[in-house]
Amino acid sequence: MTSIAVVNQKGGVGKTTVVLGLASAAAHRGIETLVVDIDPQGNATTGLGVFEPTRSVDSVLADESPGGIESVMETTAWPHDSGRRPLVAASSPALAAREPQLATDPLGAQDRLSLAMSGCSVPLVLVDCPPSLGLLTINALFAVDSVMVVTEPGAWAVDGVGRMLQTVSRIQSRRFDGGPVVKGIAINRLGRTRDGRYWHDQLDAAYPGKCLPPVHLRAAVSEASAQSRPIHSLGRRAGASEAAGEFDVLLDVLLGHAATDGPSRPESPQQGET
Ligand SMILES: Nc1ncnc2c1ncn2[C@@H]1O[C@H](COP(=O)(O)OP(=O)(O)O)[C@@H](O)[C@H]1O
Ligand SMILES: [Mg+2]
Repeated sequence: MTSIAVVNQKGGVGKTTVVLGLASAAAHRGIETLVVDIDPQGNATTGLGVFEPTRSVDSVLADESPGGIESVMETTAWPHDSGRRPLVAASSPALAAREPQLATDPLGAQDRLSLAMSGCSVPLVLVDCPPSLGLLTINALFAVDSVMVVTEPGAWAVDGVGRMLQTVSRIQSRRFDGGPVVKGIAINRLGRTRDGRYWHDQLDAAYPGKCLPPVHLRAAVSEASAQSRPIHSLGRRAGASEAAGEFDVLLDVLLGHAATDGPSRPESPQQGET
């Protein structure tokens, strides 16, 4: 099993979008994928077309539940013709109340998700995290073997990524295996503007060799999420195949099929894609 947490303590930067894009790329390739949605907002769950989940990841966080994740997985509602349908361990609004409840466990409750995912037989697990550094995100970081930080190319992005990487490094020093590995920083919603290039360069300079090939700002990306459809199924919609290609590249990096290093500059301006 390969497991990846998609993180940033800030909301609205594109964590869920990247999780859905990676799930779409994996579905297209026929890779069986589980999306674990630990954000109480549940956007990944609805983006996968699951509006009334019958089970939720909350129940495996409530108790110590070794191997429990498979008991709460359900099939998603993405169209049949878009490849292998992902599975989801759905979010629930109850997750919001779970976090303060976990904090009262005298033995510490940072490893509940790790226990639940132990022995999971799904080859690729993507964990969509809430916009905070609370116990839900910490549970994800204890459970996965790698992590991808998603950010926008804007003011405060360098500081925000830095705080996240500090948290990851504190967890690495506590985990017996030294994990999770930082796969890199995915710069999302990159516009083809001077401003976009500037902030991209700032991130490259602050984290040399850590910035992954970017995901550009495209209307097709938000449309796919809003329609609960995989980006790979939007066909000839302007920008859809280019966006799908960018998520293919990110999936390659995560699966170790491509170099993680090297600055990736925004392409020169093109027209008619957003
Ligand atoms: N590359 C992109 N192009 C266009 N819209 C995007 C892109 N990435 C994210 N969005 C939109 O930005 C909003 C926030 O993204 P989301 O993935 O929900 O962020 P997060 O999970 O970090 O809170 C959503 O409406 C989403 O559709
Ligand atoms: Mg989200």
